[in-house]
Amino acid sequence: MEHGYHGNTRQGIDISHYKYNHQGGSGKMEYILQAPMPKVFGSGFSSEEEASLFYFEKTLEEIQTHRNEIGAFIAEPIIGCGGQVPLPKTYLKSIYPAIRAQGGICISDEVQVGFGRLGNYFWGYEMYDIVPDIVILGKPMGNGHPIGAVITTSEISESFENGLEFFSSFGGNPVSCAIGEAVLNIIEEENLNDEAQKTGSYLKKLLKDLGRKYPEIADVRGEGLFLGVEILDEFNQPDKNRAHYLKNGLRKTNILIGTDGPEDNVLKIKPPLYFNMDNCNTLVSTMEILLQKK
Ligand SMILES: Cc1ncc(COP(=O)(O)O)c(C=O)c1O
Repeated sequence: MEHGYHGNTRQGIDISHYKYNHQGGSGKMEYILQAPMPKVFGSGFSSEEEASLFYFEKTLEEIQTHRNEIGAFIAEPIIGCGGQVPLPKTYLKSIYPAIRAQGGICISDEVQVGFGRLGNYFWGYEMYDIVPDIVILGKPMGNGHPIGAVITTSEISESFENGLEFFSSFGGNPVSCAIGEAVLNIIEEENLNDEAQKTGSYLKKLLKDLGRKYPEIADVRGEGLFLGVEILDEFNQPDKNRAHYLKNGLRKTNILIGTDGPEDNVLKIKPPLYFNMDNCNTLVSTMEILLQKK
């Protein structure tokens, strides 16, 4: 997926447009197909359905050209490095069967969005009413402790039982597993996904209200506590400088957010899940003070 990021290993870079297409990257490998990033905001389409159809058809052309050759399709449910871009609602529901029909498998990268951050959706793929063949997990899984996992079907996991021993030194490490389990327990006991939903909706509303007062806030998008705020200039062009001014201004008051997207003009807001309403008020009122300065 255009602007996708899936890791820093050799293969990770090969499948990450964000890496191979950036400064220092060596370009797309011949064996990789690149699907255009299906965005709604900024695409000129007035509805999710229209955007879905357009991007599905574009990707379908690639799939049909390479029939029986595609091994896998990988995408994040909301494209983080693309600038927190949610996929149009029916996009994956069309792509997944097309990939499977020609023999490929479908992978959901939940490294950024998984583990309740999206509130109503514990896993991002649930937003789109689809079930992947492989789900990859990382970052939030250990709340800072290094642990990742691959979840897959019995059929795929049994395919590793081919006589070649499949293991790694730290695979199944009991300490890491205990930490991973503790994280899941805390999420459940403290209803952190419900909290992410409530706090995220509140924050999204505050940011949208702010956008009505300050036109440079051109779009507020995302789910739960995984939000993006796209900053444009008076000519409706990406305004990286203004986005960086906001990010750096917030940092001076000890509030850390990021910027991302192809033009680096999208504020990326993904705080810890215990972020609360007071924290939202502080974030947005500080943003407003910065926005008032020209
Ligand atoms: C969406 C996504 N996928 C995969 C990865 C790779 O995870 P790791 O750095 O643990 O290899 C990252 C890391 O930033 C990520 O954001």
